[in-house]
Amino acid sequence: MVHHWLSTHVADGDLVVDATCGNGHDTLMLAHLVGSGGHVISVDIQESAISNTGQRLKEEGLLNRVSLHHMSHERILEVLGNRSVHCAVFNLGYLPGGDKSLVTVPESTIVAHERLLSRLSPGGVIITTVYTGHVGGPDEAEALFGWANKLDGKHVVVARHEWVNLEGQPPHILLIQRRPSSSS
Ligand SMILES: C[S@@+](CC[C@H](N)C(=O)[O-])C[C@H]1O[C@@H](n2cnc3c(N)ncnc32)[C@H](O)[C@@H]1O
Repeated sequence: MVHHWLSTHVADGDLVVDATCGNGHDTLMLAHLVGSGGHVISVDIQESAISNTGQRLKEEGLLNRVSLHHMSHERILEVLGNRSVHCAVFNLGYLPGGDKSLVTVPESTIVAHERLLSRLSPGGVIITTVYTGHVGGPDEAEALFGWANKLDGKHVVVARHEWVNLEGQPPHILLIQRRPSSSS
């Protein structure tokens, strides 16, 4: 579902952000979508995630379309400078195959969303996969959806996707789009 939305919102030449690059699956998808004229900024707090993503992109011959930054996503403006972005993607929780105690946390997740929202170009989107099945997940989901619900509908539209018939605790997806006509 997320990759379907990415493919409808990201175009050739775009500047986009993967705010939790993990094993690089989303970064790889984004690198294909932005084409040779676009660029992907990918960040993660784990060194292993940065190297896994780098290796994946190298194997596909697309490493030149990506900048990798070993840092927390709430520092994203240090990398972006004055540039605006067409899309940012977050995949919250822990690194599959990695340390499950190292998870995204509501404080930095929300600050990172706020900062990226402030840099979204008109019509741009933030797409976030939100998990509730791990320790801390429900609190993060509640805080993030609570923040998103209060965003001003004059400037951004917010949607929430959920699967209603799946067993376990399937993720929810948060979609935030800056209105094409919004100037702030
Ligand atoms: C579910 S994984 C991401 C999977 C990734 N999208 C992929 O395609 O493989 C979540 C990632 O968020 C990272 N993370 C946790 N807190 C972070 C933070 N404050 N800033 C950036 N990345 C963070 C974790 O290290 C982990 O790699």
